[in-house]
Amino acid sequence: MTTAARRYHITTFGCQMNKADSERMSGILESMGFEWSESPDDANLVLYNTCTIRDNAEQKVYSYLGRQARRKHEQPDLTLIVAGCVAQQEGESLLRRVPELDLVMGPQHANRLQDLLEQVFNGSQVVATEPIHIVEDITKPRRDSDVTAWVNVIYGCNERCTYCVVPNVRGVEQSRSPQAIRTEMEELAQQGFKEVTLLGQNIDAYGRDLPGTTPEGRHLHTLTDLLYFVHDIPGIERLRFATSHPRYFTERLIRACAELPKVCEHFHVPFQSGDNDILKAMSRGYTHERYRRIIDLIRSYMPDASISADAIVGFPGETDAQFEKTLKLVEDIGFDQVNTAAYSPRPGTPAALWDNQLSEEVKRDRLQQLNHLVSVQASERSQRYLGRVEEVLVEAQNTKDPTQVMGRTRGNRLTFFPGSIDDLKGQVVSVKITEIRAFSLTGTPLIPALR
Ligand code: SAH
Ligand code: SF4
Ligand code: F3S
Repeated sequence: MTTAARRYHITTFGCQMNKADSERMSGILESMGFEWSESPDDANLVLYNTCTIRDNAEQKVYSYLGRQARRKHEQPDLTLIVAGCVAQQEGESLLRRVPELDLVMGPQHANRLQDLLEQVFNGSQVVATEPIHIVEDITKPRRDSDVTAWVNVIYGCNERCTYCVVPNVRGVEQSRSPQAIRTEMEELAQQGFKEVTLLGQNIDAYGRDLPGTTPEGRHLHTLTDLLYFVHDIPGIERLRFATSHPRYFTERLIRACAELPKVCEHFHVPFQSGDNDILKAMSRGYTHERYRRIIDLIRSYMPDASISADAIVGFPGETDAQFEKTLKLVEDIGFDQVNTAAYSPRPGTPAALWDNQLSEEVKRDRLQQLNHLVSVQASERSQRYLGRVEEVLVEAQNTKDPTQVMGRTRGNRLTFFPGSIDDLKGQVVSVKITEIRAFSLTGTPLIPALR
């Protein structure tokens, strides 16, 4: 045994909420004196922050865990933690499957990591999956980027989409107070961050659980109000938000985005399916006509807005004709990016129990067709950038070419151009786009400061 500093490693699976939770848990561990270890094999504390949205996401965790569990037999002082959505879903049964685990903690408990670890260090094996009121985090997150940051605004989800585990594992909606959000953003600005993405599984639900209504009966705190409330923070130059739900998206929000200069013209609005009967079976609560109207409305205010979405193929009972309607919707809208997935039956969700499941071949085949269309479209949408001057916020060096830096346009297109990260990090640079690919761009900077 050495007296060297205790080292920790976190591997994060899943969505941005998990990434944000991991950053806060890293912050807590560092405040406890742990140091980051790139490799799990050199760490005394290994934490897997897990995702269970689809079966393959869950299986990945078990293979990683098995290796660390074996390591623990040679190194008994290794602390092994499963956090996140698999932890919440499996709870105690994870201990039966992997008895080497010290701590199983659901996503609502992320901010309590120190507390839970103290119990572990006192010799207990701990399972923390009971629903709680999420406490504000008092330590500083260790952020992956020093330019762009995620800020949670609402935890959980009250929807009941029939395919989805999120409400089971993330619990009911809990909005943070506008002031807590603003304070976090002010601190980010002081630390030099330039861009903030406000996060929620269904961000349009922001504020519904907070007290207060206007004389007209509207909630006092909505996402739109929040955007106005945080917009003037000096130093934060860009604002984004995700994920939007087509059922709750309002024209008032679209108007705010058009009016507020810091809000980027990028909207992530999952549609899931282009067929109304499938949407109904999914309990999504909107039709493809409503979805189209929302996108039209966005484009009427911001003609060049970039639009991304999520879609599921092979939902139980989906016919060829219904799948064609998804293709048709994608064709008609012209997305900049679509995250696609083959339907995966999840424990504890209604659709998993239906007897009209499709074969894996059908799902795979539809996924391929949709992916093909999505990348063709993304290339077409990229065309409009050629020769244009885009504002790029520089985030990092291009890992594949150190003579270049990388950043994003306001529309969220990954963009590379020649330059030094030491000079340009965190700056918004005007870049003339000279080369396009489906999901990224290359250009030449227009600022004289470079030479
Ligand atoms: N709150 C967001 C999405 C959360 S999950 C929304 O309402 O759209 C992220 C994406 O995973 C979903 O948009 C969906 O496309 C996909 N997904 C969720 N459950 C799934 C399942 N059982 N099988 C396949 N994809 C799924
Ligand atoms: Fe899942 Fe639906 Fe909630 Fe999105 S809105 S997280 S798909 S239940
Ligand atoms: Fe996965 Fe949990 Fe996010 S299931 S997608 S990590 S909310």
